[in-house]
Amino acid sequence: MSDSELIEKLNGGLGWELRAEALYSHYSAYVKGINRLHLKPFFDEEASESHTHADMVRTAIVKLGGVAVTERDSTKIVHTTDYKVMLKEALKTEQKAAAGYEGVLSLIKGDEEMYDSIEQIYFQELRSVEEVTQLM
Ligand SMILES: [Fe+2]
Repeated sequence: MSDSELIEKLNGGLGWELRAEALYSHYSAYVKGINRLHLKPFFDEEASESHTHADMVRTAIVKLGGVAVTERDSTKIVHTTDYKVMLKEALKTEQKAAAGYEGVLSLIKGDEEMYDSIEQIYFQELRSVEEVTQLM
């Protein structure tokens, strides 16, 4: 395994976090009706968690001597005011994030600190998958 493969995978995760932050901030602004009461704080929290994850992943890329991406993943963010569609899009986003970090973890060898940090993100993505599933 070369560091370049790991850096590439981490950059994939970073782009996905930047997209997730934009997605959750967008849905937080557009969620309507009685569900706004619960879902706005939830989306805000997920946006902030994505920001934190992006910081952690960027730190790992810097540590490896890589160049971190600054653009979000190009996967389209679906605009909607229907909270069910928002949750469906959130679930897809979290599932893809979790799968991505699982792949990243298998590439980290000999850096316990980095492994722990990415594992922490991975577990948080799994919790988000569970949480969104419960909300649907
Ligand atoms: Fe995340």
